[in-house]
Amino acid sequence: MSDIERPYGSADSDPALKRVRTRHFQRAKENGIKITGLTSYDFLSASIFDEAGIDFLLVGDSAGNTVFGFDTTIPVTVDRLIPLTAAVVRGARRALVIADMPFGSYENGPDEALATAIRFMKETGAQAVKLEGGVRSAPQIMRIVQAGIPVMGHIGFTPQSEHGLGGHIIQGRGEGAEQLLADAHAVEEAGAFAVVMEMVPSGIAGKVTAELSIPTISVGAGPECDGQLLVWSDWAGFNRGRIPRFVKQYADIGATLLDAAQQFQADVESGVYPAPEHEYGD
Ligand code: KIV
Repeated sequence: MSDIERPYGSADSDPALKRVRTRHFQRAKENGIKITGLTSYDFLSASIFDEAGIDFLLVGDSAGNTVFGFDTTIPVTVDRLIPLTAAVVRGARRALVIADMPFGSYENGPDEALATAIRFMKETGAQAVKLEGGVRSAPQIMRIVQAGIPVMGHIGFTPQSEHGLGGHIIQGRGEGAEQLLADAHAVEEAGAFAVVMEMVPSGIAGKVTAELSIPTISVGAGPECDGQLLVWSDWAGFNRGRIPRFVKQYADIGATLLDAAQQFQADVESGVYPAPEHEYGD
């Protein structure tokens, strides 16, 4: 989305006037303007992505993998995500910050879901929450939205259910297409302002995008969605392991840091660092 096309101001306008709002997502879909999102888990990355003009920052429970080093997102708790989300909010002047509700914080029903969403809104300053599940999570979405909190849905592959789904498996293929459509419509009818579709074939994702009036955000759901979201450590090459097929890697931060750390060690061992310009005089 170029600055001229941006319905919510450019990088130099008054920060108070230029925060991306959920209504801008709707306007972007109506005008065919693509929406961009990245995950972020800290102040510094949030500041950089915000400066770049990324429209929304998701403090994903993918922090379980990228920040905390778990194999899945399942162990992530609200208490662990709250300080990360607050840090991202402090770094984002323009981007809409979305707090991801972790496994175990909303499945017990609408009351639990609303209590969790309220915690994120009050304790972090996030402007919206996200939760996984279509038809099964519709009552939770409805309750949160009725309380005035914007909700982003998440359907297709939902990592919190990876054991139930039988692993990292593409969703919406064959007979799964009907379920995906039902999930998408349930999320829209419950009042979500946008819906993430993760690891879904492009064809069915395009059909969902055409049928829904709210924007669809792709995480491996192809080019016909209204926006694209990536986990930043995958996208920037910070993740040293395998990255999914749908990720385009835009940088190699991991290699840069490895090289820097090796040079630092060599310089310290050889006495090149610290040099006179790094010393304080008497
Ligand atoms: O936790 C996360 O980062 C996510 C996105 C991949 C959609 O849920």
